[in-house]
Amino acid sequence: MRAVRIDRFGGPEVLNVVEVPDVEAGPEEVLVRVVASSVNPVDGKTREGAIGEGTPPLPMTLGWDVAGVVVDPGSSGLGVGERVIAMSHQLESGRGTWADLVALPASAVAAAPTALGLVDAATVPLAGLTASQTLDWLGITGGERLLVTGAAGAVGVLALQIARARGARVDALVSRPEQAQVVRGHGAEQVVLEPTALEERRYDAVFDTFGAFVTDAVADGGRYASIATQRGPVPDLSGRGVRTTVNQVREDGAGLADLAGLIDRGALRPRVEAVFGLHQVRAAAERFARGGLNGRIVLSL
Ligand SMILES: NC(=O)c1ccc[n+]([C@@H]2O[C@H](COP(=O)([O-])OP(=O)(O)OC[C@H]3O[C@@H](n4cnc5c(N)ncnc54)[C@H](OP(=O)(O)O)[C@@H]3O)[C@@H](O)[C@H]2O)c1
Repeated sequence: MRAVRIDRFGGPEVLNVVEVPDVEAGPEEVLVRVVASSVNPVDGKTREGAIGEGTPPLPMTLGWDVAGVVVDPGSSGLGVGERVIAMSHQLESGRGTWADLVALPASAVAAAPTALGLVDAATVPLAGLTASQTLDWLGITGGERLLVTGAAGAVGVLALQIARARGARVDALVSRPEQAQVVRGHGAEQVVLEPTALEERRYDAVFDTFGAFVTDAVADGGRYASIATQRGPVPDLSGRGVRTTVNQVREDGAGLADLAGLIDRGALRPRVEAVFGLHQVRAAAERFARGGLNGRIVLSL
């Protein structure tokens, strides 16, 4: 089978498509033929060696997202040929998904949404689970007011929609005027381009996707979650009764099934910027690094 491997850290030029032995499913695992995956910020950081402690040993296969079909369902109850989505925590397991085949714990796999093709579905697992698990930590309830920073990004735009589906009123901090239009289209109310335009103490909760640390915006007694691990901890706000965290995504097939349900009900729409073949993985990584994206870069196998 083909796999995208690196045997040293560096820029897109260290990405190589190589032939490796087929993987097989172990106990409690599902073997999936990957049809599409996507390029996430963590893939670039891992490739560059910027993760530091906890990076899997070289050589390693990159990639977290999976949209594909079941080859060997093991004891999962899934059917051979069934369309599935999954997230592989590549940093914890070293199990990269930019490969023709991947064996995953059955508990990490869910049936794919029926309303989307697998190319679009491949953008959902990592970004969607990060969004939903962080919203779970924030404990957003109907009628509460949430701020999402980086709300037009891959995680942000899904967090915005999931929070709306949970009944929250959502405002957005974005970086470009065209992003304001996008997030309004997904139900954001107030949209600002500058942190200085945020009203102080307005929000029951803040979901900070890029480490903006706009801590004045959260109400006393509120909640503030960042996912920008590289930016370090959120400043201590315990003096104002604000709970804080830097949330870390976990593999979660049941969570993916919930996301698939939201997609099939029309409540969640992922965004694709461009699709590259696996052999174009260096070009895909270069496009990702240039930025200015309006959706995910997908790798089609
Ligand atoms: N902790 C975890 O488990 C976890 C899981 C997933 C992701 N992450 C991390 O979370 C971050 C976001 O991930 P993502 O996949 O959503 O990335 P993304 O698609 O690149 O989105 C980031 C968004 O933030 C915006 N942004 C960046 N700097 C900004 C600024 N100064 N002002 C306003 N907006 C700004 C970007 O706008 P532009 O496009 O204009 O730059 C983009 O819309 C990444 O650092 C990623 O590594 C962490």
